[in-house]
Amino acid sequence: MACLLPAVLASCSGPEPKDKALEAKVEKLLARMTPEEKIGQMNQVSSYGNIEDMSGIIKKGEVGSILNEVDPQRISALQHVAVEESRLGIPLLIARDVIHGFRTIFPIPLGQAASFDPELVEEGARVAAIEASSVGIRWTFAPMIDIARDPRWGRIAEGCGEDTYLTSVMGAAMVRGFQGHALSDPASIAACPKHFVGYGAAEGGRDYASTFIPERLMRNVYLPPFEAAARAGAATYMVSFNDNDGVPSTGNAFTLRQVLRDEWGFDGFVVTDWASATEMVAHGFAADSKEAALKAVQAGIDMEMVSYSFVRHLPELIAEGKVKQSVIDNAVRNILRIKYRLGLFDHPYPDGQQPSVMYAEAHLAAAKKAAVESAILLKNDKETLPLTGKVKTIAIVGPLADAPYEQLGTWVFDGEKTHTQTPLQAIRETAGDKVQVIYEPGLAYSRDKNGAGIARAAAAAARADVVLAFVGEESILSGEAHCLADLNLVGAQSELIAAVARTGKPVVTVVMAGRPLTIGKEADLSAAVLYNFHPGTMGGPAIADLLFGKEVPSGKTPVTFPKTAGQIPVYYAHHNTGRPATRTETLIDRIPVDAGQTSLGNTSFYLDAGFDPLYPFGYGLSYTTFGYSNIRLSSSALKKDDVLSVLFDLENTGKYTATEIAQLYVQDKVASVARPVKELKRFTRVTLEPGEKKTVAFDLPVSELAFWNINMAKVVEPGEFGLWVAGDSQSGEETVFKVID
Ligand code: BGC
Repeated sequence: MACLLPAVLASCSGPEPKDKALEAKVEKLLARMTPEEKIGQMNQVSSYGNIEDMSGIIKKGEVGSILNEVDPQRISALQHVAVEESRLGIPLLIARDVIHGFRTIFPIPLGQAASFDPELVEEGARVAAIEASSVGIRWTFAPMIDIARDPRWGRIAEGCGEDTYLTSVMGAAMVRGFQGHALSDPASIAACPKHFVGYGAAEGGRDYASTFIPERLMRNVYLPPFEAAARAGAATYMVSFNDNDGVPSTGNAFTLRQVLRDEWGFDGFVVTDWASATEMVAHGFAADSKEAALKAVQAGIDMEMVSYSFVRHLPELIAEGKVKQSVIDNAVRNILRIKYRLGLFDHPYPDGQQPSVMYAEAHLAAAKKAAVESAILLKNDKETLPLTGKVKTIAIVGPLADAPYEQLGTWVFDGEKTHTQTPLQAIRETAGDKVQVIYEPGLAYSRDKNGAGIARAAAAAARADVVLAFVGEESILSGEAHCLADLNLVGAQSELIAAVARTGKPVVTVVMAGRPLTIGKEADLSAAVLYNFHPGTMGGPAIADLLFGKEVPSGKTPVTFPKTAGQIPVYYAHHNTGRPATRTETLIDRIPVDAGQTSLGNTSFYLDAGFDPLYPFGYGLSYTTFGYSNIRLSSSALKKDDVLSVLFDLENTGKYTATEIAQLYVQDKVASVARPVKELKRFTRVTLEPGEKKTVAFDLPVSELAFWNINMAKVVEPGEFGLWVAGDSQSGEETVFKVID
């Protein structure tokens, strides 16, 4: 099998050769199973009622997996029924959405992506696996690696943003973290990259909506993170809810059989999304649930989540000859293979250690570090931050300063808000008795439109040296089925910022949200803006350390911030048009009245919003400044099997020891199809002391310039390439090199 992936993501040896002894066990067990027991393994049930209620179907071997059960005693009891009372004693696989932590909640994945720190992300997934596995959960529905270029889509919070390379690196790191050094370790949980595939391109940013992704775009942009996850050894996959060009993912044999199995050699199992098999009826792709079951298994689904069409209809479909027994046998092999790899037959029960690992000190420390690295400094006029000794009185306003649940973010089922450390508590502790802290939230919650408290907040601001305004979104405003058409601050938060700014005191706006919000107006009124996405359990201490300069912000935007929702989709890796924007236009106020029809001289931009976004991809400031210089390439003409070495000098030109995320972008200037104006190919975190200068190296195999071309082949096409090394996607001087035959 050809190696299609960047070397940093995986070795090119392809999937592990199958373990013969394990395969023999699978075959031996399969041979003993009745048709009903086989179909039972393909059935996933959401936990319900009491143990007796569920025992009947488990004893009969009609359940392969249970989701949404987190009580270790109940998990143990259910597992005892499966192992001791079902005919073949096949253990259950217990699943849960452990998305950004189990009890200790890390920043939402979009925030973690802003760290550009795969090791930290891997550690976060490891912590989640340790906590979740301690109660008996051995399978998580993560990582979510849907490329998302539309912040109206609520689920943008759950993924790593707009970029294929960044998402590939982070997704693979999460897979490694969840699955640990070996799946068979009782503290490992099986990963489930989702949603396969294209879900993030939902039309209009409306959840569940159709997507229209042609094969080339699918292969160049949406599929690579899933391939990287396969290379990292992901045990399972989950399909997506959307139909792409009319074909629901649950019934898509092209992606499930051709790409996932034949091209990538995946040998784990694929689960539907919640009832996505029977939802093919609503899509108009199956007449009824029987046809839905038929289309799902034929396309390559192995396990059905909660909609029971497999258990109800597969026996009949097999009897009618519509589904071959071999299709069922293969699906069951895939499931049993993962159960064996997880060591479930040897260790089916939770180990009873759970109280000692939940919120362990090391877990909280890792969550705090993740929150520190996830924060993005978007503005810092006149060195407003960090707060210095000159600040004697701080006014804290805004509905998110002390909102323990709201800072956790979406998909938090098991993290408890009683463990959350909020910014208000942390700032009070950090300030001690030397600094007076006045807390006047002004609004009770983010959507609060009752402005009655705003005057009190403004009065507090007037008495202070600096105002810290904590605004953003409650957790429930992002995530599944929580999309927005308008990305301005909700409720009266904008009025609150305006009121405190009118006092003339410097305002530091601290945002906690599930997506990029259109905060241009509020940023203009603020001296500094620190953007956190939802930072999780330890968000408070992390933010306090950043505000007071114990830590220096280093995060970079993992997604483009639009000025207005009308600019969406707006992402850095777009193609050029025949009339590329010059980046300077906004014409609306300059067009004369009665202007005659003309397009000449105009380019691809909006009259009222221009072309540029509010903040580009990869952007983020620091308390210090960095200088890039002396970029040199190992060669200006390379062959396809060469490795390009890029060296440059990075200097800390400011006053603080700090970390810069240096980024390498490339453009394939002329190709058989138009290519993106820039594509991220490498990044690294570099820590420098004031005045320190380091030479940094990026190695980029030329093979990583390959793309799916006009002939739908993945190749490197010879020609000229542009290259940039910079601190964001819009900066840096271009250097060119050539690829020759
Ligand atoms: C979501 C999945 C999730 C599943 C199980 C669905 O609604 O789309 O991402 O894993 O529910 O909770």
